[in-house]
Amino acid sequence: MTGSEHGPKEPKGPKGAKGAKGAEGASISVFELMAPYEHEQVLFTYDPVAGYRGVIAIHNTTLGPALGGTRFWSYETDEEALLDVLRLSRAMTYKAAVAGLNLGGGKSVIIGDPKTTRREILFRAHGRVVESLKGRYITAEDVGTSVEDMEYVRMETSHVVGVAGRSGDPSPVTAYGVYCGMKACAAVVYGDESLRGKAVAIQGVGHVGFHLCEYLAKESARLFVTDIDREKVERAVHTLRAEAVPPDEIYDVEAEIFAPCALGGVLNEETIPRLRAKIVAGGANNQLADERQDNVLQERGILYAPDYVINAGGLINVYSELVGWTPERARKKTAEIHDTLVQIFELARREGVTTSEAADKVAQRRIQQVGTMRRGFLASHAHPGWQIQA
Ligand SMILES: NC(=O)c1ccc[n+]([C@@H]2O[C@H](COP(=O)([O-])OP(=O)(O)OC[C@H]3O[C@@H](n4cnc5c(N)ncnc54)[C@H](O)[C@@H]3O)[C@@H](O)[C@H]2O)c1
Repeated sequence: MTGSEHGPKEPKGPKGAKGAKGAEGASISVFELMAPYEHEQVLFTYDPVAGYRGVIAIHNTTLGPALGGTRFWSYETDEEALLDVLRLSRAMTYKAAVAGLNLGGGKSVIIGDPKTTRREILFRAHGRVVESLKGRYITAEDVGTSVEDMEYVRMETSHVVGVAGRSGDPSPVTAYGVYCGMKACAAVVYGDESLRGKAVAIQGVGHVGFHLCEYLAKESARLFVTDIDREKVERAVHTLRAEAVPPDEIYDVEAEIFAPCALGGVLNEETIPRLRAKIVAGGANNQLADERQDNVLQERGILYAPDYVINAGGLINVYSELVGWTPERARKKTAEIHDTLVQIFELARREGVTTSEAADKVAQRRIQQVGTMRRGFLASHAHPGWQIQA
């Protein structure tokens, strides 16, 4: 799960940036890696007492403080960790920008064995580093970290979201956003946003996938589900009358919609030609194996809902914790994913670009416009520090 969630199209990096080695095998400098991604700040911290080796990347704070989770992973090299945090933080900028939130993009990685039992000291060390940024960066859980880990972070800083007793499990909100986005896709492809009678193939019926199935079942869609966990499949079969499909056959289902809700990288040269669906709309991060695959989908006449747009409900949910929104308001904001996608599809059609490229443009335009406005004649009294304006 490294180097993932590229989300927005990768910038043209320095030669050899992906392998983190230059053409002649010389190491690439940190600044060379940062430049094409246009990061504001990257903070490296080493604390031998805590056994803490962490990197916090702040990509862009034009819209607000940089928010993004802490990933704890046994990276093989420091360069691998750096590339991961650079890509992930940039994707957060785009996700927040398109969702219309007053947040920038950031992310942190801790390099080490995620099974370590020395969690208090490690995550309190991380909390102190987060605190040193005085709110420019807000963290949360991510791969390899838990709500309990965030409780330790919370002991050292208030700049953390998703701790126990606050906004809660984001997956029902994420699923609701995917459901709303799916209806936008149906409206574009079938001229009718009703999902009644539509066959939907759902890959992964974990947190997001199962809640999505519930929404779809309520609308009388036909559900085909798969998961590597048999119990989860059985739950969907018994409670929602879904039809079970073996994991490797989900791509071949005669469905109108394919909803990836498990892993990243599932849309690739081998799987796309097998799809019968006219729509790909699911909650998983990093669905495209690489950035060419959105062209492949488009060439095959498949409408792709860019993952970071359609799965933004989880981010909206933690944002509501920061700005004090009620669950109803967070849900209303999440429902806007429907209209956002319609606009992105329209832009893609008008400009002859893929839906991913159109989403990137929407993000870039908002950041550019808000940045210009803040630098304009209102600059002297406009910026409220790192206070978020809801
Ligand atoms: N939870 C959220 O709010 C949220 C928000 C945004 C994005 N996402 C993304 O959505 C995806 C799902 O998240 P989740 O919270 O539901 O995770 P989860 O772990 O609860 O569910 C994932 C499910 O996929 C299954 N799975 C794994 N490999 C599979 C395979 N090869 N074939 C079929 N099923 C497989 C797992 O058994 C599990 O049941 C992830 O990519 C996550 O990054 C989640």
